[in-house]
Amino acid sequence: MKNIISIQALKQHIQPWRLSGLQIGFVPTMGNLHAGHIELINQAKIHCDKVVVSIFVNPLQFNDVFDFESYPETLDADQQKLIDANVDLLFLPTSKMIYPNGQQNITKVCVPVITEILEGESRPGHFDGVSTVVNKLFNLVQPHAVFFGEKDYQQLLLVNKMVEDLNLSIEVKSVQTYREVDGLAMSSRNSRLSTTQRKLAPKLYQILKDVSQQVLKSEQSLVSIEKRAIKNLECQGFDVDYVCIKDSKNLQTANDQSVSRRVLAAVKLGDVRLIDNLLIDFIPKAL
Ligand code: PAJ
Repeated sequence: MKNIISIQALKQHIQPWRLSGLQIGFVPTMGNLHAGHIELINQAKIHCDKVVVSIFVNPLQFNDVFDFESYPETLDADQQKLIDANVDLLFLPTSKMIYPNGQQNITKVCVPVITEILEGESRPGHFDGVSTVVNKLFNLVQPHAVFFGEKDYQQLLLVNKMVEDLNLSIEVKSVQTYREVDGLAMSSRNSRLSTTQRKLAPKLYQILKDVSQQVLKSEQSLVSIEKRAIKNLECQGFDVDYVCIKDSKNLQTANDQSVSRRVLAAVKLGDVRLIDNLLIDFIPKAL
């Protein structure tokens, strides 16, 4: 695996691949890699000839300085995981490279509506930081396909919309949430949970599964199912930000027209914020 620390070197490596018609897959990350990230890379290896991974803890998407400064950095371990996963190229840009003119008064990409609710409401400016950096990374790497996790479902929809709205010639591939054996969605933040919090954390997934079953039985209104789930989580010791049942396509309120619904949740255990989501309606593929 080649480590690339300049934009010029990145272009020098990628240009010949493109010219010889190789399909380039790209997996942007913020490091502290776990099996969920590796699953994205495995999918990229299946679909593409060359796989590029970036590690960049993007300051622009953090609305909380403490969260940014305490974001775990584990570069040596990350590099070993990427070598084991047969990644071709690791791009390690600095803030100066991505934001040469600083972070104030720069052109940003803002994806409307979908970013104004849920995570967007709880973390003002977060999604503008995500879409801006993702767009910059796409421009630098110029991939044919990019791989994003369903774990961050709102982010996945944002990337899909940005690619569509801006006519980017990129295929966005989504990858299912990778979980610990007890159901907890893998996340770089999990390492900040205390032993007691770690034991409690998988309850979130269990409650999302309960919500899903209750919706499918359709004996109660969606609002009352959401309320019950929130109460249940609070009783277990979670500080709940939201539990919402939404239309999978656009995250608007689910209704009779929704072909597919998804339950999304954000909770806090101490100062660790966890998000998760689950598809409710399973739509069998057409024969
Ligand atoms: P990061 O949190 O490092 O996640 C990188 C990618 O890994 C995202 O697409 C995320 O959805 C995916 N991912 C994380 N945990 C996962 C899991 N348990 N199962 C499947 N996929 C998982 O998301 C970001 O970084 C940043 O916002 C970024 C897109 C890199 C822009 O800065």
